[in-house]
This record gives sequence, C-alpha cells and structure tokens, in this order.
Amino acid sequence: MKLIRTLALLALIFTPSLWTPTPLFASTPAAAAPAAGQGVWWKHALIYEIYPRSFQDSNGDGVGDLKGITERLGYLQSLGVNAIWLAPIYPSPQVDFGYDISDYENIDPQYGTLADFDRLVAEAKAHHIGIIMDMVMNHTSDKHPWFVESESSRTNPKRDWYIWRDPKGYTADGKPIPPNNWISAFGGSAWQWDPKTKQFYYHMFYKQQPDLNWRNPDVEKAMFDVCRFWLDRGVVGFRLDAVPTLFEDPLLRNEPYTGQIDAYGDRAVSDIYTNNLPEVHDVMRRLRKVVDSYPGNRVLIGETYLPNIEELDKWYGGARHDELNLPMDMQIGFINKMDASLFRERIEDVETKINGNQPLIVFDNHDNPRSWDRYGDGVHNAAIARVIASILFTTRSTAMMYYGQEIGMVTTPPKRKEDVRDPIGIRGWPKEKGRDGERTPMQWDTSKNAGFSTADVTWLPVAPNYKTVNVQVEEPDPNSLLNWYKKLIEMRRVDPALREGEETMLDPSNPNVLSYLREGPAGSPSIVVSLNFTAQPQTVSLDLAGTGVSGDKVKTLLTDDPSLESTTSLTHITLAPFASWVGSVQ
Ligand code: NOJ
Repeated sequence: MKLIRTLALLALIFTPSLWTPTPLFASTPAAAAPAAGQGVWWKHALIYEIYPRSFQDSNGDGVGDLKGITERLGYLQSLGVNAIWLAPIYPSPQVDFGYDISDYENIDPQYGTLADFDRLVAEAKAHHIGIIMDMVMNHTSDKHPWFVESESSRTNPKRDWYIWRDPKGYTADGKPIPPNNWISAFGGSAWQWDPKTKQFYYHMFYKQQPDLNWRNPDVEKAMFDVCRFWLDRGVVGFRLDAVPTLFEDPLLRNEPYTGQIDAYGDRAVSDIYTNNLPEVHDVMRRLRKVVDSYPGNRVLIGETYLPNIEELDKWYGGARHDELNLPMDMQIGFINKMDASLFRERIEDVETKINGNQPLIVFDNHDNPRSWDRYGDGVHNAAIARVIASILFTTRSTAMMYYGQEIGMVTTPPKRKEDVRDPIGIRGWPKEKGRDGERTPMQWDTSKNAGFSTADVTWLPVAPNYKTVNVQVEEPDPNSLLNWYKKLIEMRRVDPALREGEETMLDPSNPNVLSYLREGPAGSPSIVVSLNFTAQPQTVSLDLAGTGVSGDKVKTLLTDDPSLESTTSLTHITLAPFASWVGSVQ
C-alpha cells in the first residue's frame, strides 16, 4: 500500500507544459497560493464534463468506459481541455446511473478497473489534462455496506449514519405516517418506510439513495477518507454533487406549500428545511483544509443551484476564500432566454459581488436539456450557440462545458414511455420525460453509432442528426461550431485581457445587445465584445469614455458576421441577427 502511494506521488510531479500559468501539481503547497485563486491553474481552465456511459465505448457493449475516454484524450487536448469532470464511475446499482454509489473506492466493472483509472490519470496528465472526480456526499446507494448495516437493526452502530425517524403515527388502517411533509426532488414523499425496523429513512433523491447523516462526525470522517483515497491516486479535484443538501432541519419542521403541483403530481413544498442550511459551510471549510493539504492547487467545485449571488458568495467563504474554489454559478447559464439585460445584470453580479473570487460559468450538464434547445429559437440555433460560447470564453470566468456542446448536439428525449431509462422520466411521463435526452452518445463521425460504439444496441440511442452533426464533419469546416469553440478557447488561453482583464459593461441600457470591455493588463490591448441577442440586425455605438481605456479604433479578432471582419470603428457596429463580434482596441 505504502509503495503504491509513493509511486502515485512520484507520478504527480508535473512536466512543464502548455498548461499555464501554474503547472498542476507544482511543488508549492496550495496553502501558499493567494486565497482567491490568483495564478493557479484552475482559474483559466476549461473543465469538460464527461458522462462516461455516453462518451466512448471501447469494448462494444453499448456503454461508454474508461478505456474509451483514454482513447479520446488527443481530441480533448486539441480542443483545449484542461480538466475532465467524470460523472460517477464507482460501483453502483445504476438506479441513478452512478449517483447511487455502493463502493466509493473502486470502479464499476462496466467502466473498467482501478488499473484503467490509473492509466487514464497518467495518460491524461501526459496530455496536460487533470481528472476531477464526482464526489457524492449527500447520499449513498441503499446497497452500500454502510446502509446495509444501518438498516439491519435499530441498534446497529451505523444506524445513526443515516436519517431514521419514527412514524408520526398510523392511519386508521394501520399505515405508518411519515414524520413530515418533505418531498423527494425525484417525486413522492422523501421518507421511505422500513417494515423490519419500523422506522422511516430520509432520501432527498430516489429511495435507493438514502441521505447520510452529516450531524454524525463519523460520516464526515469516512467521506473525507474517501476524498484522500482519490487525491492520493492523483485526481486534481472534486465536483461535489448536490452539496447544498447535506443537512436537514433537526426539528423536522414541515416545509411551506408553494401552492403548485410538481411534475409528479405532488403538492410542491419550498425547500427551506432541506436545502442550503448554514451548517454545511463548516463542513466545506474542513474539506477545503483536507484538499489544500495536498500539493498542486487541487480544486473544489460545487453543484450549487442557489437563489442569488449573495448565497453563491457564501460558498466561496466570501472574503475569507476558505470554502469551495469554484461553486458553479447557475444564475447565468440557466437564464434560459436570450435576454441581454438579464445576462448583463447577472454577469455584473458575479464580477462585482463575490469578493474577488473566481466565477465558474456553466451552460450545460447531464441534468438539463442542452443549451442548443434551451436558448435556440428553431431558426438561428447555430448563431445563438456561438453567442453562448462567446459568453463562456470572453467573460471573466473559469469555463465549464459538457461533452457535445462544442459540436451543437441537440436534446433528443425519448418518444415513448417504454424507451425511457431515467427513472424520473418513467415516474413523471409525459410531463417530465427524464434526462435521457441530454445524455445520448457523443457524435464522433458518420460511421455506425456515430463512432461511439460497435454494439448493435447502445444504452441510449444515438441522436438521428449524427451524420451532419459530428466531430469528423465539423473539424475541417472553418465555419463549424467546433471551430468557433476552438478559436475562442485558444484566444482565451493566450490573451492577457481575456485571462485577467477587468470587465466593464458598455452601452449598459441596450436591451438587445450585450457589449463589454475586458481591460488589457499592463499595457496589453483591451478587448471589446458585442453580442446581438435578437433576430434583427442591431447597430451599436460603443463609447469607452470613463473606462480608463482610450481609443475608438478596433481590429476584429473573431466574428461570425462577414460584414464585420474589417470593421475599424467602435462607434458604428452593425451586427447581423444573433451575431457575435470580438475585437481588440488599437
Ligand atoms: C445531481 C446530479 O447531477 C444528478 O444527476 C443526480 O441525479 C442527483 N444529483 C442525485 O445525486
């Protein structure tokens, strides 16, 4: 064991690379880095989410796997990816496709072995890419040995690792009544009755995902040990699943009804007693200390759907900078309409109201219809996708993407209930069709199953448009979405204004066009971005007065509007419908 750890640590020494500014796993301890992330690798990173079932199948069983991901590292490097967030690959009954974990320190055989994982980490490193594990701390699978013990009897030492409660009473016909009105995010009561020990246990998600009791210090210890296991194996950080839901109200107070009925037919309740409780911040501070005790500026990312910027700031630890490095900003990416004013307001919020911490903007993930469809109007989807990409890579933010976003993959929900794989889609059909639509296999080329798998049947069908929307077709096409992404990613990698420059909104009352300045640090040229959020041409006159940057002459760096390729003046820019323009101030 000791030998394996020593070898793993030796392997962590990073060879100098394109990866700037601070090499991953440099020998400086993280604690020495400035608190808000100045100069650390993740500040300018592109973090790419892979849903392992759907990325690349290497053994022809119709399900993606670790060897498949390893085969595709060249592609990811050429795209400019710095770190891969892997959705869960641990052993699991797969009720929630891996978010129900039955062993935190192994790999599910359908994805490979620990040796395949180690090889992926090593080869990714050779491609200057780090691996980020998905850490599911809120709940385990009901098949995890901890829960199997916990449910075995009321006196089992692990009983208190989960949230067990007596019924509130019994109905006239002898049915147990749940302790309160809390409902599961996936439908129905959040309480599951155990006839053997005659108590309910609490589950925020599926009943096969019992919530751990984070008020029990043994739970924290066990989970932090799991984190150390993967840090020792060389992961560069964690994405913390559903982390605001770790704690529940100890008094089990009923949540207020919202007056609505949810997709599953239940009376909806607000989540004031089950989500974002203040106790969670102490855990985050302690977890941050564990992660910071490792070299190389490893990163803590949070799945943080929060109501406003003030709540998001708390997840960084505010001015103390001592909690998560990158809690996800879901306020921007999930606006879900092309509203320039709202985008301006939210981008300004994250620029000015998070105590100098680093924003993490994300538009796509495995839980939501793809941005192509959420923002597309059915006519200008490709141009709108370029606007989205421009926001992701030209605002001051770390960038997170989801596989297939770069080629414009579309959401392909199942057409019939019998084809649905995601249990919430079965329960909620047809109002809630589940999340299969955003999890279809990656579209690599025009061959069978889009190059994803040689199997006759893949776990989810490949989207029908794969012959025209795929990497092979888009790579040689200079006007493809893939090449738009590549140009933006490369621009942001090398341009000081895009990396570090302060952000100032321009033409701030314009409801149709979002324009902003990224001020070039230390004499480097400033950048101006202008994005048309409407289906009509728009003309803007941008004035840098008061920004501290002088000059109104510009040079186009990137645009999808040919008429703007040779534009030289900021005072008259006419953008075609949903056009994007990025220029440098001369
Ligand atoms: C959030 C994950 O992204 C989602 O896929 C999962 O179902 C829930 N958390 C429960 O783990």
